[in-house]
Order: sequence, then C-alpha cells, then structure tokens
Amino acid sequence: MELSKRLKFIADMIEVGSTVFDVGCDHGLLDIYLTKNKDCHCIASDISLNVLKNTTMNINKNGLEDKIKIVHSAGLANLEIANGDIVVVSGMGTKTILNILDCDKVLKITNLIIQSNNEIELLREMVIKKGFYIFNECIVEDHNKDYVIIYFKRGFKQYRKVDYLFGPIARKDIIYSEYYNSLYKKNLKIMKNIPKKYIIKKFRYYVYLHKIKKFTSMNS
Ligand SMILES: C[S@@+](CC[C@H](N)C(=O)[O-])C[C@H]1O[C@@H](n2cnc3c(N)ncnc32)[C@H](O)[C@@H]1O
Repeated sequence: MELSKRLKFIADMIEVGSTVFDVGCDHGLLDIYLTKNKDCHCIASDISLNVLKNTTMNINKNGLEDKIKIVHSAGLANLEIANGDIVVVSGMGTKTILNILDCDKVLKITNLIIQSNNEIELLREMVIKKGFYIFNECIVEDHNKDYVIIYFKRGFKQYRKVDYLFGPIARKDIIYSEYYNSLYKKNLKIMKNIPKKYIIKKFRYYVYLHKIKKFTSMNS
C-alpha cells in the first residue's frame, strides 16, 4: 500500500523525530511512513478494533511492531499526550473531528494537524475557539479532489471572518489560486441553480462569490 499524496502532504508538515498521535489511523500508513522516513515515534489509534487488526497487520508486515504503538481509543480518551507532541486527525468530516476534540484532553494538545473532508470554515472557527492559532496550512489535489490541511498550534491570534472562510495563510499564497478558482466555479454553479424565488439565498451566494474572487486568478 502506497502513501497517498494527501497523506504525504500531512507527513511533510511533521518535524523529524516528533511524537505523533494518529487519531483514527485506519490502515496506519501515515505512521509507517513517519517511522521509516522521519524517525518519528508514532502512536496509531482508532475507535474500531476491527480496523486495528488491519493496522497491526500492516505494521507487522513492515517489521515496525516494536516501533509503533497501537492504542484502541475513542477519540483522545486513552491517549497520553504530552507537551510538544503532534496530534493528527485526518480523513474524517468536521462534525466527527469536532466531537473528538470536544473533551478536556484537548487542553493537552499543543500541536494539531487536521485534514477534514468538509466544512473547513466551521472547522477553522471552532478549533481556533478551543485556543489554537493557524501555524500553517496547505492545499493538495489528490485524485481530482482538493484537501485542505491545517496545522494548528496552541496560542492566540486575532482572526477575521475572511480568515475562517478562506484560510489566513492559503488565501494569500498565489500557488493556491487554482483551488480558489475551482471553489468559485463550484459555488457559481450552485448559485445559478437556486430558483429566483429564493432571492435572499441567491444573494448570499453572490456575496460569497464576490469574496472568493479576490483569491482566484480571475482577480486581475
Ligand atoms: C476514513 S478513515 C481515515 C484514516 C486516516 N486517518 C486517513 O486520513 O487516511 C477514518 C478512521 O477514523 C476512525 N474513527 C472514526 N471516529 C473515530 C473516533 N471518534 N475516534 C477514533 N477513531 C475514529 C475510523 O474507525 C476510521 O478508521
């Protein structure tokens, strides 16, 4: 099994030698890659015992059974997270991710990398409300789908609505204008399909599109 482009981008954000908690590890591929290539100490955890059988098989196949710790855990419940460790939560929806973070243990997290499959605006806003700031973010296209990966760190920074909506870092980086182009096109299509009688809804999309346009290559 090969590491996807999406997971490789997550791995690239992680410093060599880090202790990494991979929450919802599934196949364990990220942990295997980080252990082999970045000398990380990984804790692979998942809510499903069935899934963990597969994780164990993959880890054993790679001869890493002494290096990667496997923990059965619903969210953060059974994880002993220390200052400076990195927690990764990826490949899930924002609602599930926010549920995982909705506990006292979140206070132990200083470094948090999240890749959510949806509702990125809500994710940014809610995670920031939990006492984090956005240290880094990147966008990767993998199999015709765009993924936003956000590296949060414990601390405070002032943000505006536009930061939650489009990302405080990514939207300023010209390399991501293609992502904003496709976000614009997707929302334009949605707006066009809203019947005229829903004029307020249509107008909201219009305003949203106007905002996105600033970060596209059409803004010249
Ligand atoms: C789609 S997979 C993502 C796997 C991997 N993180 C990735 O990005 O490719 C989601 C995994 O999260 C696990 N999961 C879902 N809810 C969870 C929770 N509350 N706590 C821990 N694991 C959870 C599922 O069992 C599943 O293995």
